[in-house]
Amino acid sequence: MAKSPMRVAVTGAAGQIGYSLLFRIANGDMLGKDQPVILQLLEIPDEKAQKALKGVMMEIDDCAFPLLAGMSAHSDPLTAFKDIDVALLVGARPRGPGMERKDLLEANAQIFTVQGKALDAVASRNVKVLVVGNPANTNAYIAMKSAPSLPSKNFTAMLRLDHNRALSQVAAKVGKPVAAIEKLCVWGNHSPTMYADYRFATVDGASVKDLINDQVWNKDVFLPTVGKRGAAIIEARGLSSAASAANAAIDHVRDWVLGTNGKWTTMGIASDGSYDIPEGTMFGFPVTTENGEYKIVQGLEIDEFSRERINITLKELQEERDGVKHLVG
Ligand code: NAD
Ligand code: LMR
Repeated sequence: MAKSPMRVAVTGAAGQIGYSLLFRIANGDMLGKDQPVILQLLEIPDEKAQKALKGVMMEIDDCAFPLLAGMSAHSDPLTAFKDIDVALLVGARPRGPGMERKDLLEANAQIFTVQGKALDAVASRNVKVLVVGNPANTNAYIAMKSAPSLPSKNFTAMLRLDHNRALSQVAAKVGKPVAAIEKLCVWGNHSPTMYADYRFATVDGASVKDLINDQVWNKDVFLPTVGKRGAAIIEARGLSSAASAANAAIDHVRDWVLGTNGKWTTMGIASDGSYDIPEGTMFGFPVTTENGEYKIVQGLEIDEFSRERINITLKELQEERDGVKHLVG
């Protein structure tokens, strides 16, 4: 029997990431090739943005996606989020050259208060929320705090782009395909303070750390390359990453909904106190997923270097949180 459609809201649908994301969702890349979807697309009320959104929708129509069971344009989150099963909160201002992601806090925090409240009011009680708009961890924290009637576990932040960036750097270093690498993770904030960690990673079953065996490369090349990749792309393209961000969003939601089959991935989630990360902090953790639920990988040894790095990224998140106290109470 055919599955009933899932409702997916995407905010910032006429933006750069939206343009790389919507077609893939409608093609079944995110929820499965047997899962019909209804797209509920949110843009700001501005005439130009709404017109651009109509143009994107015309193109989606022109793809004649067999899985697309409906599509609507919205300027109000209360209608866009009605009964949704998945929310991709992308719409926000991107940073430009010379800015850090936390410089966007002021500009974007308000958006996530309004949208958190709207999710609380009208979304499915099981809605899975992914925040992409920067600063993603703190925006996800704001949305979660603004939606007190929804379970905190429904709110996540995107660390998957960092995870994929780290995978690709490690694969190049050890000269193996990305698919051969498992058990990699990224701890903390989606910012240059993130701690990409290959200490537990394996390649075809062998230890990546032993194969690389170069702490100087880890500290001076790998971590800065992954941490500053967003800025490097802005510098090169003049615009922030879009197709790779959309791809990471698809990966994140697909793995959350369809499961990782025991494999590790990274998700920004509200801490349950694991690894001494204070409860409620929206933090990147290694997780596995099954039956639509994620679980933090437990029992990993945190050595002195790792604890230092984890504390740095935690401190930054706590500072960001303090900066939005007035919005979340
Ligand atoms: P963009 O400027 O091309 O598009 C953003 C769109 O959002 C615009 O069309 C804008 O009108 C819309 N928008 C703004 N406020 C909105 C609101 N309140 N409701 C609905 N729509 C709204 O930007 P982009 O390149 O698509 O990036 C979007 C966000 O994603 C930025 O904050 C960027 O920094 C972030 N980002 C995050 C990651 C990550 O890994 N977490 C990666 C890349 C980009
Ligand atoms: C990225 O990591 O590419 C995005 O967060 C965009 C940015 O501002 O770096």
